[in-house]
Amino acid sequence: MKFFLDTANLDEIREGVDWGLIDGVTTNPSLVSKEGRDFKDLIYEICNIVNGPISAEVIATTSEQMVTEGRELAKIHKHVVVKVPLTADGLKATKILSGEKINVNVTLCFSATQALLAAKVGAAYVSPFVGRLDDISQDGMDLIRDIRTIYSNYRYPTQILAASIRHPIHVLEAAKAAADVATMPFKVLKQMAKHPLTDIGLKQFLADWDNFAKENLLKTEKVS
Ligand code: E4P
Repeated sequence: MKFFLDTANLDEIREGVDWGLIDGVTTNPSLVSKEGRDFKDLIYEICNIVNGPISAEVIATTSEQMVTEGRELAKIHKHVVVKVPLTADGLKATKILSGEKINVNVTLCFSATQALLAAKVGAAYVSPFVGRLDDISQDGMDLIRDIRTIYSNYRYPTQILAASIRHPIHVLEAAKAAADVATMPFKVLKQMAKHPLTDIGLKQFLADWDNFAKENLLKTEKVS
């Protein structure tokens, strides 16, 4: 399973990369606006930190404008994946951009039929938003499972990018449902590494070693 960081924050991205765990990054207009930086400069910097796909979202809402904006974004760096919303215009734009060999991530996917359309227009990725469905009492993970079934039935190469991940169980369930990618906030990645029994066990090992070392030192001092 590939792990993407869902952030536009350079410190988080650098740290995730240092951990050796990050295969790519997803951004969206809300995440980018938090950083208060020039959009294209920021995407370029992220592309130079992470050796993998970096999603940059269009702001346009008509297919023509999305195509124009998508082409511009794709010029920033070879890692850029153009992110477009799952609207009729977004699907039209995806068909055109994909035809030009520009990778597209179709975002804001909330149903399996939407995901089927994204695959048919040649999207490189589809982003089903698990957490936002959970928020409205609909099991977001059911959507991942349905898309997996459909894409496997027809061997669609579009990758399932589980998005709107809020906690480690989302990552676990997405992995069990065979999502290709999970994109997560840095906080979730850190939570995944944590286990209280690891901390307790390590503390005990180090304390035992410390006692053993002290006893040995005492013995050595007595002999000499
Ligand atoms: C995906 O690409 C989106 O950026 C993101 O996962 C949305 O997550 P949220 O629902 O927590 O805002």
